[in-house]
Amino acid sequence: MEDKCALLKKWINESSSIVFLGGAGVSTESGIPDFRGKGGLYRKKSAMPLEIALSHEFFMAHPEEFYQLVRPFMARKEARPNQAHIRLAQLEREGRLKYIITQNVDGLHQKAGSRNVLELHGNDSSFFCMNCDREYPAVDALASSGVPTCACGGILRPGIVMFGEPLPFGSFDRAAQAIANAEMLIVAGTSLVVYPAAGLIDYYKGDKLALINEQPTPYDREADLIIREKVGEVFAKV
Ligand code: OAD
Repeated sequence: MEDKCALLKKWINESSSIVFLGGAGVSTESGIPDFRGKGGLYRKKSAMPLEIALSHEFFMAHPEEFYQLVRPFMARKEARPNQAHIRLAQLEREGRLKYIITQNVDGLHQKAGSRNVLELHGNDSSFFCMNCDREYPAVDALASSGVPTCACGGILRPGIVMFGEPLPFGSFDRAAQAIANAEMLIVAGTSLVVYPAAGLIDYYKGDKLALINEQPTPYDREADLIIREKVGEVFAKV
């Protein structure tokens, strides 16, 4: 572990154009559960599995059940950035890190001070009316129980990308471009099984692909360095 962290640190110090691609595992050390990791949300037994509930089709057909199931995981205001978020923001300020590409919707990178954050799956801090598109802060939308509605009577939806929906316009192309131009790519806290996000790795052309993940991923063979530790602990060392 120490040798691998030392190599990661060396690469970071040598690179002037780093891109970070992350997933739910980046926020577990902030107390937000991931989906497929050890204590992941998709591993919990329930009558309606969360991976089905988090789809556009389910939301449209059963908005009451959707909100019952996902409300506990949304807009967790008490969550604070961990060492991974904090160090990444610092690397951006130093001019080394060019982009953070995240599948997370929790806004913790921005809370830590990062500016160039591409959110592939949206953000749960805002809700939108399905009828008139009016925007509501999550705290207001989630203030009362049941299905939140707009002043116009329309149903509110969270600003996240659900299964069966396209990524925010242009976000994939911008992410692919950033990765194609990167000298170093750090991928962390993602199982790399959800597309199109996982496929972004194929755009990397360099020879410094560092993968930090507790569990193996389908892209391990592509990596130039694999660290199977907690991402926050690793960043605290580098
Ligand atoms: P996953 O839950 O699929 O993967 C998280 C990975 O991070 C797992 O392999 C864990 O072992 C690892 N992990 C957890 N905590 C870690 C830590 N502290 N340090 C290092 N590794 C850690 O999350 P994603 O890959 O982000 O999409 O999932 C992708 C998408 O699937 C999500 O954005 C979400 C979900 O369905 C939508 O909701 C559309």
